[in-house]
Amino acid sequence: MNVLAVADATIMSALAADVIAATIVQKPNAVLGLATGATPMGVYAKLIEKQKENGLSFAGVRSYNLDEYVGLHGNDPQSYRRYMMENLFQHVDIKNENIHVPNGDATDIARECRQYDEQIVADGGIDLQLLGIGNNGHIGFNEPSDHFTLPTHYVEIDASTREANARFFSSIDVVPKAALTVGMGAIMAARAVLLIASVGKADIVERALNGPVTPAVPASILQFHPNTTVIYVK
Ligand code: F6R
Repeated sequence: MNVLAVADATIMSALAADVIAATIVQKPNAVLGLATGATPMGVYAKLIEKQKENGLSFAGVRSYNLDEYVGLHGNDPQSYRRYMMENLFQHVDIKNENIHVPNGDATDIARECRQYDEQIVADGGIDLQLLGIGNNGHIGFNEPSDHFTLPTHYVEIDASTREANARFFSSIDVVPKAALTVGMGAIMAARAVLLIASVGKADIVERALNGPVTPAVPASILQFHPNTTVIYVK
């Protein structure tokens, strides 16, 4: 595992964007696993800069987002699909048909999850999986549990995660209670993983990387991943 402890979020974002850009340069049709939340925003801003200033092209890139809130349509301002459109996709030349975000509004949730995993496999698996980390050690919406779940699945969001995410909503009451999330199977099968963590996450990063591997700290499973890079603000 490559672990970089950096001084601030600007450096974290710049380094993470360099890793993603290098992946795209080496493989223009790379499959990227992408995350939402506050942490990757600076990374996406840097990638947009790289497209505008250095001609980094997303024309062949295929993307799979980690998660989506259940019950929110992809056009909902709070949906993760909208977040991705606003923070990255509508500013770069990625093709619409190559963008994948779980459909939180699907009528058949089990089918949606199964097809999402099948599509990832059909696209050759994930070349680079970008991850943030929750204060409780979650990755995607794989919340602390007594077991690791492999497939994409429906999950009830932890009370602590709903509290943490309430800052993006008008009140905690309207934070969705469930999500669809890519499971540990696709994450661990990614050829490379890039975990980023901003200010205030050093303790949970330390527990995940140096504590016991346990589903109680979901990110700890990355200790078993052969090609993980962690960039966190110390
Ligand atoms: C979101 C996701 C989550 C976040 C995590 C950290 O797609 O995968 O695991 O990465 O909740 O969120 P922030 O970056 O807002 O602290």
